[in-house]
Amino acid sequence: MRNRLWLLAAALISAGAAASDKPVNAGPYVPSPQSVVADMLKLADVGPKDFVIDLGSGDGRIVLTAAKVFGARGFGVEIQDDLVKRSNEAARREGVADRVKFITQDLFKTDISQATVLTLYLLPDTVVLLKDKLLAELRPGTRVISHDYPLAGWLPEHTVRMDLEDKVAISGVTTTLIFLYVVPARVAGRWHAQLPPGIAKGAMELDLKQQLTRISGSARVGGRNLPLEDVRLRGEQLSFTLAGLGSARFAGTVKGTSIEGTVEHPGGAKAPWRASLK
Ligand SMILES: C[S@@+](CC[C@H](N)C(=O)[O-])C[C@H]1O[C@@H](n2cnc3c(N)ncnc32)[C@H](O)[C@@H]1O
Repeated sequence: MRNRLWLLAAALISAGAAASDKPVNAGPYVPSPQSVVADMLKLADVGPKDFVIDLGSGDGRIVLTAAKVFGARGFGVEIQDDLVKRSNEAARREGVADRVKFITQDLFKTDISQATVLTLYLLPDTVVLLKDKLLAELRPGTRVISHDYPLAGWLPEHTVRMDLEDKVAISGVTTTLIFLYVVPARVAGRWHAQLPPGIAKGAMELDLKQQLTRISGSARVGGRNLPLEDVRLRGEQLSFTLAGLGSARFAGTVKGTSIEGTVEHPGGAKAPWRASLK
């Protein structure tokens, strides 16, 4: 009796483990209409320097189009073997097998750090589940394109909305949405900046707060606290105005713990500035 109970428990545990090893189904195979594929890649401004990754690549059309029409490289991951096989065959047939490949892999376990453009057409819950992975693994400046479903809590840079008859068979309505996100650099914290002579004497302390792409903060210069105005962050490109410092406009590239760029006076004079994270 005890033996039988143990066997039952072991069977239940191994069934549980098998169930948890099984990839989460992020959506059925429903290809994006070809016109939407072109619009997604155009919105991401895909070009020959790009590396495109499609998570849940279906028949491979997004990555294949990125290579054939826009000259990009990349790969797609897909859990259905037959679709992976079909995609790799299409890549060979269409002469782009040297630039793209398709792999049978769970998209939640895929290393996506190589992407400069990442595309998604997955169930809405999955898209939200993936948000943290994207922010942790993708480099600042990477464009993320999602067909129909937004990454909740992350403000898209652009949203394209259109009506397409092709979508009625897929979702029951003609409405089609494409969201473009740009992965922001991490800028939150205290920065110590050197200012060029002519802007202010000495150093400036910057205190930046960040909620994804939304940045706020203040600067301490010459014993005064000045609010940052018109702050923008796109990927690694940060800019802001200090109205209290002759309306100087600061722009710079964020590279890890340093920012380097130029500061411009309304008169047009430009000078270099740099900052490092304290
Ligand atoms: C809606 S289709 C999108 C296909 C393609 N990206 C497109 O836009 O034409 C979603 C695809 O994701 C695949 N998929 C679902 N869950 C997955 C997982 N955990 N890992 C890899 N692929 C998955 C499905 O098999 C399906 O082919």
